[in-house]
Amino acid sequence: MKAFALLSTLLLLLPFSIASLEETCRNVTGSEESYNLCVTSLQVVPGSRTADTKGLAVIATQLLEANYTQNLDKAKELLKGKSLTPSITKALGVCSNVYESASKRLQIGINKLKSGNIAEAVEDMRAVAGAPNDCESAFHDVNEKSLLSKENVDAFTLGNVAFAIVALLQK
Ligand SMILES: *[C@@H]1O[C@H](CO)[C@@H](O)[C@H](O)[C@H]1NC(C)=O
Ligand SMILES: *[C@@H]1O[C@H](CO)[C@@H](O)[C@H](O)[C@H]1NC(C)=O
Repeated sequence: MKAFALLSTLLLLLPFSIASLEETCRNVTGSEESYNLCVTSLQVVPGSRTADTKGLAVIATQLLEANYTQNLDKAKELLKGKSLTPSITKALGVCSNVYESASKRLQIGINKLKSGNIAEAVEDMRAVAGAPNDCESAFHDVNEKSLLSKENVDAFTLGNVAFAIVALLQK
């Protein structure tokens, strides 16, 4: 009887605490493309199916941090190339710098989010949102084709998703 009462209580509570992944992604994206990216990126993370909105915000922000770090590593790897022109070296240097400082800031933001400091976490997200664009522009500034264009587009889209989920917590 006790177990039954507990189960009924759990069943009653569940729909209110779990933020459906699809519904959250639907709410924070404006196109089918970014909706699909949101669902496919978040659903592979263990716990994303049972997370509340704050949990999903942490997951999305951690994914973004992994993404920025991956782009930083790629920029560093490309910088090791032997036959780089000075302009490509310059652009890759910018990418490496912006992704490095953005990843660090994101780590700080993730901790603020976890401790419930939403307003400051939103500020951190705002501060790092431009990294993919800054990297992309660095190539255009020296009239070179971007070597990280797919990575930058993906990180930008994922960043928008993460930012929007964090922003949901402010409401
Ligand atoms: C999605 O948006 C609808 C309409 O504003 C709202 O009722 C619902 O709670 C939202 N769901 C999530 C998971 O954010
Ligand atoms: C970065 O995000 C894109 C888009 O979701 C994804 O394709 C890529 O695998 C991600 N990389 C990492 C390391 O999470």
